Amino acid sequence: MSDSFTAMVIDTVDGKQQAAFRQLTLADLPDHDVLVEVAFSTVNYKDGLALSGKGRIARRTPMVGGIDLAGVVVESRSDKWVAGDKVVLNGWGLSETEWGGYSRYQRVKAEWLIALPPEFTLEQAMAIGTAGYTAALCVNALEDWGTIGVDDREVLVTGAAGGVGSVAVSLLANKGYKVTASTGRPETHDYLASLGASGFVERATLSEKGGPLQKERWAGAIDSVGSTTLANVLSQIVYGGAVAACGLAGGADLTATVLPHILRNVALLGIDSVMAPVAKRQRAWQTLGQHLNPVHLLALMRIEPMSALPKIAEDIVAGRIRGRVVVEIN
Ligand SMILES: NC(=O)c1ccc[n+]([C@@H]2O[C@H](COP(=O)([O-])OP(=O)(O)OC[C@H]3O[C@@H](n4cnc5c(N)ncnc54)[C@H](OP(=O)(O)O)[C@@H]3O)[C@@H](O)[C@H]2O)c1
Repeated sequence: MSDSFTAMVIDTVDGKQQAAFRQLTLADLPDHDVLVEVAFSTVNYKDGLALSGKGRIARRTPMVGGIDLAGVVVESRSDKWVAGDKVVLNGWGLSETEWGGYSRYQRVKAEWLIALPPEFTLEQAMAIGTAGYTAALCVNALEDWGTIGVDDREVLVTGAAGGVGSVAVSLLANKGYKVTASTGRPETHDYLASLGASGFVERATLSEKGGPLQKERWAGAIDSVGSTTLANVLSQIVYGGAVAACGLAGGADLTATVLPHILRNVALLGIDSVMAPVAKRQRAWQTLGQHLNPVHLLALMRIEPMSALPKIAEDIVAGRIRGRVVVEIN
């Protein structure tokens, strides 16, 4: 085991949060039950905010960034895990209140870990990451609501070329739903069609303010954009349908009316991945194992070294990343 290793650490400098590479030792890590050698992490939108300084994600500093990790257990004081187990961790406050995955070694609580799903390698698990696991939470929530797939009406995915969006398109298409992708990048249409999208909506048509009850169009929707886009999507859902809302890439505000909810019985289903209970997580990973086409997974991911983290962080916040970026830690 190496004496010192590289981590991406967020610190407070002159009142502002800044991220930089730093050498840590095992003695620096938190005193949690399980020591994991991290093989891969990833960059989600929230990681981009944390590393670029564009969002105050870390609630204390110094903070090791990275909301996800996948790796191998080195030591465990818990009887849940033994050395050699392959494990995955999504959320649970990593990079906010707890040290995260951008570190060759990390100590974490036993109950935050899940076993690597048998369908995936460690690298693939991080190609999915929080973004993909959240897409699966959204798909499950829409299916539980029960109105997608009852006729041939389409399911809309906003922010489609991003991480949540790409995995959502692939999962929904694989399950046999007709998927329409909303993107601001027409150059991604071929890519989205290869993941299973059969229709496209230009991002701008949803981001401009619209009426409270528009033409009923979508059986359901997965929204990672928020703001005016979410208000428009709610007003275009068919009677009884639902929107699984998980993101704010377009803004955290929501100026809308109650009309779709009280006149069309439309539901707004809030989706949180960070503190989701273990049973929901396991069901989401099962959905991914059964319905995420491995060819799609390969198409939507790319691998980068840890040294590329600052650039990827800037790119994801600027909406320039397509699909998912895996970060090789080890
Ligand atoms: N609730 C949760 O637990 C949870 C979990 C994961 C992620 N999230 C949230 O979900 C969102 C997406 O995360 P991600 O990791 O998929 O990020 P991402 O890869 O950056 O994808 C976001 C996508 O949103 C679109 N977009 C970007 N800026 C926009 C703008 N100003 N207006 C409209 N659309 C815009 C872009 O898609 P196009 O280029 O296709 O238009 C972009 O690719 C983020 O807000 C993230 O914080 C929440």
